Amino acid sequence: MACKRGALIVLEGVDKAGKTTQCKKLVQALEMSGRPAEMMRFPDRTTTIGQLISAYLEKKSNLEDHTVHLLFSANRWELVPLMKKKLEQGITLVVDRYAFSGVAFTSAKPGFHLDWCKNPEVGLPKPDLVMFLQLNPLEAAKRGQFGEERYENSDFQKRVQTRFEELRKDTTVNWKVIDASQSVEDVHMNIQDHSLNAINKAQDTNVGVLWQ
Ligand code: TMP
Repeated sequence: MACKRGALIVLEGVDKAGKTTQCKKLVQALEMSGRPAEMMRFPDRTTTIGQLISAYLEKKSNLEDHTVHLLFSANRWELVPLMKKKLEQGITLVVDRYAFSGVAFTSAKPGFHLDWCKNPEVGLPKPDLVMFLQLNPLEAAKRGQFGEERYENSDFQKRVQTRFEELRKDTTVNWKVIDASQSVEDVHMNIQDHSLNAINKAQDTNVGVLWQ
């Protein structure tokens, strides 16, 4: 490795947990401390595949459930070359949702098994750290109504939460659970601590391979 690589850091959690706000704050803090960092989010709605997903989420189109699962996964795979390049350049990637959302959301649908859902994600770059922003449904409800997009209803979100709990049992992934009911600043400090640790550990290692 020519320079020390960046870390792959993922934020996951149910809706309203504050993932996007915290991703932005983390990138800002890392940059200010002289550590190159960029934010990414999945789905990335800017690509051709991302536009298909976006239309589905906005309920402008319908897609068969297996098909949309594979599109979400393809949307990650199409960005892998760019992700690897940035990590090699020493840029830390702070990612808003990743394969874990992919598996948790689809497997919350009737008739989907976790293993089938994980399969297309096997081999993706493995995050050095996955932080799960934990917020109970009552707290989440206080933060306002769900929007109009597909999946934004509390029954489905409860099932998603259960699937995330299942995924967090996997010790091959570096999960950290963050109490998202704290103030934005306290959550940020917590996230920053874990991230600095992960960045230090990652720099002298190769990027891992997810679920393989
Ligand atoms: P967003 O609100 O963070 O843009 O996420 C869009 C929705 O897509 C959200 O309800 C979670 C869902 N989702 C999946 O179903 N599969 C995936 O792979 C990802 C990344 C998100």
